[in-house]
Amino acid sequence: MSSLKDELIKEVGKRRTFAIISHPDAGKTTLTEKLLLYGGAIHLAGSIKSRKTQRHAVSDWMEIEKQRGISVTSSVLQFDYDGCRINILDTPGHQDFSEDTYRTLMAVDSAVMVIDVAKGVEAQTKKLFKVCKQRNIPIFTFVNKLDHYGKMPLDLMDEIENVLGIRSYPMNWPIGTDGQYMGVYDRRRKKILLFSADTTHGQEARVADVYEPDDPEAIARIGESAYESLQMDIELLDEAGEEFDQEKVDCGELTPMFFGSAMTNFGVQDFLEEFIRLAPTPAPRESSDGLIEPIDEKFSGFIFKIQANMNPAHRDRLAFIRICSGKFERNMEVWHEKSGKMIKLAQPQQFLAQDRQIIDVAYPGDIVGLFDPGIFSIGDTICDPAHKFQFAAFPVFPPEKFARVSAKDTMKRKQFVKGIMQLTQEGAIQLFQQPGAGMESYIVGTVGTLQFEVLEYRLKNEYNVDIEMNMQPYEVARWLAFEDGSEVTPDKLHGADRGMFVYDRKNNPVLLVSNEWALGWILDNNPHLELNPVPFDRKEV
Ligand code: G4P
Repeated sequence: MSSLKDELIKEVGKRRTFAIISHPDAGKTTLTEKLLLYGGAIHLAGSIKSRKTQRHAVSDWMEIEKQRGISVTSSVLQFDYDGCRINILDTPGHQDFSEDTYRTLMAVDSAVMVIDVAKGVEAQTKKLFKVCKQRNIPIFTFVNKLDHYGKMPLDLMDEIENVLGIRSYPMNWPIGTDGQYMGVYDRRRKKILLFSADTTHGQEARVADVYEPDDPEAIARIGESAYESLQMDIELLDEAGEEFDQEKVDCGELTPMFFGSAMTNFGVQDFLEEFIRLAPTPAPRESSDGLIEPIDEKFSGFIFKIQANMNPAHRDRLAFIRICSGKFERNMEVWHEKSGKMIKLAQPQQFLAQDRQIIDVAYPGDIVGLFDPGIFSIGDTICDPAHKFQFAAFPVFPPEKFARVSAKDTMKRKQFVKGIMQLTQEGAIQLFQQPGAGMESYIVGTVGTLQFEVLEYRLKNEYNVDIEMNMQPYEVARWLAFEDGSEVTPDKLHGADRGMFVYDRKNNPVLLVSNEWALGWILDNNPHLELNPVPFDRKEV
């Protein structure tokens, strides 16, 4: 075996690349920060009060994020733990999340789903879970805020199964009474872990006292009655619960479930260690030339995100690349399939907490940021010229919000069109046009309203164009086709005026309507019409 192969086997085996998904406020930012704390990437977690400002340092790049105190774009955090290299791809957690959130999930090998113990499965968790489920990637569940009152653990298991359709396997089980849990029982190691009171407000790592399950000292600390109910619960889980099955975990059919509190560091370290043990190393990827194995010596990767203006001092565009096979080396030349050109990968960047660093080498599972010479688009493949192929196309995420956008000053139309085309190419927005409309106004579609704010901000700051934006009362887009293949035009579509008839960038006809009910009417009145939530030649998520 070549020495490069050996190197790849070793490095790929170390990598764990994942995203944390949750509904806003479930504790994703806090958990991320605590994983960095345990990973030694930061030394003191921000206290609850100062965390909002600290957060800027870690993951907020654009000015708009600072203004709103939210994370608009995903960032990548990397640290080493126990001989493993951990890549956390942060996903925007605000309810106005964007397509970036979805796309980030295309670049990970597993996901951690954070659930607030009191709130259970919430709307955004459901959406993100669906994307992970469709990729069949392993999903780990962290039930957070155990220091608070919340739902009963068994009820949460039922909820996850009923709402998300995935069975769970509790890896640990809370000990004590709701709102005053003292620790957890580790089912694999068969140990009791008790936490002493947190005196540092979660700033410092917290170590658990570990006991055998029948240790009298542990029983005395827990109290007879809590100890009895723990025994009953464990018996019930062992007898009536799901069996642990790594294969089911690997294909996303069973979620290992952990209980803890990110804020008070309760169970965070055990979670991290078990996660590293169970989470997958970088997986092979489908391509036009079959599966590409990460230990394949020929380099390959794909672009999952393009971000402009991360640093206001430099007006740069960064393309985020997920490495899929081979070894990445600075200044290497790769084949860019889409343009059919060789490109030199200079100035690659990697992200460690708040610092951007120039890197020399990276391996499958790693994410590198490259200065984009202006030719990359989302989903593009780059690979070794000796083995040219294309990774499977990204799915399209159906837009749910629409606005009519035009330049306030008609003299600025040229910059407006340039900016809007560029942002569409970056994947920041989806673009539609009404029949006959010139370049004066466009219909912009997004999956979250925050994308409109980003659009407005970027057109102003990068293209010096103020825009007029009118939200449209539509929430559903459907690509249209007649069964006989004839062209769909507004006059041939009954009820076209019940919504808005537009064309996408490739001139495919699309109807925007306000709800599913309106769609039903259109279908009833156009018996030979076919409707698709994404372009007919693309895959939906
Ligand atoms: P997000 O990224 O998922 O949106 O959530 P984030 O971590 O920002 O946490 C949301 C709120 O929940 C924060 O409080 C945070 O301190 C709190 N939180 C996170 N983990 C725990 C936990 O284990 N227990 C308890 N009790 N609270 C937790 P906040 O008051 O909204 O913000 P801040 O002032 O603390 O920043």
